[in-house]
Amino acid sequence: MLEFVDIAKSYGAGPMETRVLTGVNFQVTRGEFVAIMGASGTGKTTLMNILGCLDTPTGGTYRLDGMDVFQHDDDTISAIRNRKIGFVFQQFHLLERASALDNVLLPLIYADHYPKDAEKRGAAALKEVGLRDRIHYRPNQLSGGQQQRVAIARALITDPALILADEPTGNLDRASGLEIISILQKLNREGRTVVLITHDQAIADHASRVLILQDGRIHSETRPQTPLNAEEELASVREGGAQ
Ligand SMILES: Nc1ncnc2c1ncn2[C@@H]1O[C@H](COP(=O)(O)OP(=O)(O)OP(=O)(O)O)[C@@H](O)[C@H]1O
Ligand SMILES: [Mg+2]
Repeated sequence: MLEFVDIAKSYGAGPMETRVLTGVNFQVTRGEFVAIMGASGTGKTTLMNILGCLDTPTGGTYRLDGMDVFQHDDDTISAIRNRKIGFVFQQFHLLERASALDNVLLPLIYADHYPKDAEKRGAAALKEVGLRDRIHYRPNQLSGGQQQRVAIARALITDPALILADEPTGNLDRASGLEIISILQKLNREGRTVVLITHDQAIADHASRVLILQDGRIHSETRPQTPLNAEEELASVREGGAQ
């Protein structure tokens, strides 16, 4: 589905140049759940911004569904991004004054045309993340985990084939984090490709493949024999809590 070939990214120029990515190579097949791990400052967010067509690399090639992304103009790149990619960030980036439903509908406002059944789709997306009874709540009336679930529903509203999540559990307690991961695992089982960025091994263990980013490149790759199942872990966390 997507391929990075020698992707490089530097900030600044001359003696001030910081080379963050020096040559990143990997592929992701449609339907995979891939985690990218690395220490703080190794360039994970930089990498994710390029994956999400939010930033351009200083070198290399990015192919998405066979298309050489950065050979196209900005409008085409935004159109690709809006059509194919859903984003989930560590900070939820919700509008505080808007309801959960209005937050979820936001990407449709930027789409080519606003669908007639937008509200129905928004409600369905919120139901998909377990928030059917919270659609009219504002972010400050929701827990952190619930806010992140609104953000996932917002990512789903355009029906993207690829979901990019950058430290989506970074601001959450363990149980709320597992809920988020269990939703990502469910979306993956339903056929969406997921790329999850994390510095937390316990989170990365839910992916079917883990890439380690180090020194500006993919340093190594592991495949857990059986990825952890967040749903099962949640059940045991809840049992433990009930004792
Ligand atoms: N706009 C920018 N201008 C200059 N340097 C930048 C810019 N954005 C990021 N960097 C530098 O690039 C490096 C990688 O940053 P990045 O945010 O990608 O790391 P990260 O792996 O996501 O870290 P964290 O785990 O803390 O989120 C850092 O050294 C950072 O200072
Ligand atoms: Mg980061």
